Amino acid sequence: SAGKEGYPHFMLKEIHEQPRALRETWAGLDMDYVSKLGKAIAEARRVFITASGTSYHAGLILDYLLVSLAGLDAHAFNSSEYRKYIKLVKEGDILIAISQSGETIDTLMATRVFRERGAKVLAVSNVVDSTIPRESDYQLYTNAGPEIGVAATKTFTTQLMILTALAANAALHSGGMGKEAYSLVLNELEQAPDLVNTTIINVEARVRHIAGKLAVKTNAYYLSRGIGLPIAMEGALKMKEVAYVHAEAYPAGESKHGPIALVNQEFPVVFTVTDDDYLDPLEGNVMEMTARGAYTIGILPSRHYAKLGKVFTEVIQTPDASPYLLTIIQSIPLQLLAYHTAVLRGYDPDKPRNLAKTVTVE
Ligand code: G6P
Repeated sequence: SAGKEGYPHFMLKEIHEQPRALRETWAGLDMDYVSKLGKAIAEARRVFITASGTSYHAGLILDYLLVSLAGLDAHAFNSSEYRKYIKLVKEGDILIAISQSGETIDTLMATRVFRERGAKVLAVSNVVDSTIPRESDYQLYTNAGPEIGVAATKTFTTQLMILTALAANAALHSGGMGKEAYSLVLNELEQAPDLVNTTIINVEARVRHIAGKLAVKTNAYYLSRGIGLPIAMEGALKMKEVAYVHAEAYPAGESKHGPIALVNQEFPVVFTVTDDDYLDPLEGNVMEMTARGAYTIGILPSRHYAKLGKVFTEVIQTPDASPYLLTIIQSIPLQLLAYHTAVLRGYDPDKPRNLAKTVTVE
């Protein structure tokens, strides 16, 4: 159809639109406002982050950065589980509610309850004036354009862009990060559109080949350590949503505590490699899978190729960047892997069964 602009599916079109979506999100970001919010976050008594589905994975990245980079007391939770926190919330707290549609009922309920208890709410959405932003104290918008595919793609990477800028700003205010390091993160984020473009061009053929292998599987693990973990979780969610392959994500270090019992000859295990600090233990986890005959796929920035290029059955090499930007870059091959696996299995990735774009029932 005309709306697909020559692409066979909206999901593929939207994956390819990410350079533009990121560029427009960056252009639309008012850094003075981000700085005001970064200060509010750094000064908050406690920071809560809530979202559902893919947006929750963006929330986990924000949580990771606010804790590890800014040294703040941050907690991310699935919005359907908000009741657990009711007694903890007080005036002086801030809730960051992430919802691309701005309409997800659980996220809206969490927003209402937290506000009633005196917390300030910052909404991060792709739809201007949708319900959650309207009911919040502060609003930040991604500029991804309308997303038709049920599985979120461009709204996710643009969320990551905004949330990383926000976290870096909070870290600047909290003293977790110096001015120079902060400028480096911002400069990198500005390069995201170009690097994502390069990634799409470089990885697609390799991803299609791997999708051919995954198309006949029923299970897969997605493992990572550090900031790569929410990206692995998102990769597994995409695979479940559109290709109906049972994909589960775990911290790689947890794989020994149960999941590895299922691994046998040709069991697919996808690893996302982001943090330099975790290379040795991660390599150990790959070897444990290899020893059981697993089909291992490593998503690696080029600087890790020398060390890890040979330990995986398959490697998808991405451009080099710091872990802050690798979250965005590594999302691309994972989205494409889910997409191509779905198509090879004969499914329509735009209309996954049992799923709705926006969930308005509890
Ligand atoms: C539904 C969609 C997901 C989405 C989630 C949260 O489950 O199928 O793709 O991530 O809702 O949506 P939101 O609009 O709140 O980000």
